[in-house]
Amino acid sequence: MNNWRQRKPWPAADNVPTEHRLTATLSWPHLMALGVGAIVGTGILTLIGVGAAKAGPGVILAFVIAGAICACAALAYAEMATLMPAAGGAYTYAYIVIGEWAAWLVGWSLILEYSLVVSAVAVGWSGYAAPLLQEGLGVAMQWMQGPELGGLINLPAIFIILVVTALLLVGTKESASVNAMLVVVKLTALLVFIAVVLPLFQAEHFQPFLPFGFIKTPGADGVERGVMAAAAIIFFAFYGFDAIATAAEETRNPDRDLALGIVGSMLICVAIYVVVAVAALGALDYQRFADSPEPLALILRELGKPTAARWLAASAVIALPTVVLAFFYGQSRIFFAMARDGLLPRGLAKVSPRGTPVRTSVFTAVIVSIIAGVFPLADIAALANAGTLLAFCVVAVCMLLLRHQQPEMPRKFSAPFVWITGPVAILGCLYLFISLPSTTQLYFLIWNLIGFAVYGVYRLRQPAPQG
Ligand code: ALA
Repeated sequence: MNNWRQRKPWPAADNVPTEHRLTATLSWPHLMALGVGAIVGTGILTLIGVGAAKAGPGVILAFVIAGAICACAALAYAEMATLMPAAGGAYTYAYIVIGEWAAWLVGWSLILEYSLVVSAVAVGWSGYAAPLLQEGLGVAMQWMQGPELGGLINLPAIFIILVVTALLLVGTKESASVNAMLVVVKLTALLVFIAVVLPLFQAEHFQPFLPFGFIKTPGADGVERGVMAAAAIIFFAFYGFDAIATAAEETRNPDRDLALGIVGSMLICVAIYVVVAVAALGALDYQRFADSPEPLALILRELGKPTAARWLAASAVIALPTVVLAFFYGQSRIFFAMARDGLLPRGLAKVSPRGTPVRTSVFTAVIVSIIAGVFPLADIAALANAGTLLAFCVVAVCMLLLRHQQPEMPRKFSAPFVWITGPVAILGCLYLFISLPSTTQLYFLIWNLIGFAVYGVYRLRQPAPQG
């Protein structure tokens, strides 16, 4: 029973039996595309509306705060991913640096994060897809939207999850190349949005700038608002670079490629988001697009640009699956890494002849489809954020612990100003966590209590896993 503190030997990747090894096929352009593909998605396309409802024009500050915290966390990820290029990301770092109990906690949180992001983005996708579909077919099909929009079950969201599952099962490299093409579509759509909307900027839309104040405060209706409440949701828009770290084992030249992929994709996205947010809020009173399922298309329509609106919606429909793909990929690899270590049934770690973990992918698809089918977007995203914030915190803690314990260790990528960026990542993530809706914090606690119960049962029944 004293094994819960045991650490995974370093570097574990070398000890992995061949049938449990993933094939190294990716290089930095693939990774950067995977990163941008994972980062730019429902956060900027849809949650910008939820954020505006919580903070008014101050949502721009929310973008800056969440982006700065994520940038610090991205540096920690880059340092850890180049030190330990093994599938599993934060889960593996925690296992090596802290111990099994921490690995379990992080792995359990990452399962929540990746599953819920897949579901949330699928719901965001359906927000843009459903109006196009209805327009194309000329019939109202509200019944196939989620309960949040007065329907029964979100069929478009389930449909897109199944399509992405099929793509992943075909193989990693093929999927990453398709992803790179779609990333171009997505970025072009955002740049066109900026070009069309920015000239219509009106400074009076920024008055008052902070209608709901800065820190999370419950309103008379019980809804918690404020810039930090918005930042805790908008945080969703910035992560995704961590999905690259989970691909470390499949990277041909991890030293250079991982650092370039993680930090580069993060910086590109922060820059684009802030400009999109300024353009959107400057063009239209935020109350007119707050909480819309397709706010950017709505803004374009309201400004009398229906063709651009349709085009943007079509781009979102074509390109949002890249986010689903990247997180799906990350999720199946977390399962894979945990199963390979014996923390989940080992059968889940079996790889198909094409080098893809089939069982974990199919299992994931079923769960995330059910969630996407019935739950509202903002709730799914908030809970996904809770899991991610915990994982980011632990990664930054691992980085600082190693800097302290093994300062002389040669690092292929060293986070700059580590005693500033590390603590900013940790404290920033904690502050974002307490700014999440109180109900989300409660659900997250319940999820972790279940996790520790499962872990306790596992620990009682099994001898300690070896390496
Ligand atoms: N950052 C990803 C998105 O916004 C999760 O969709």
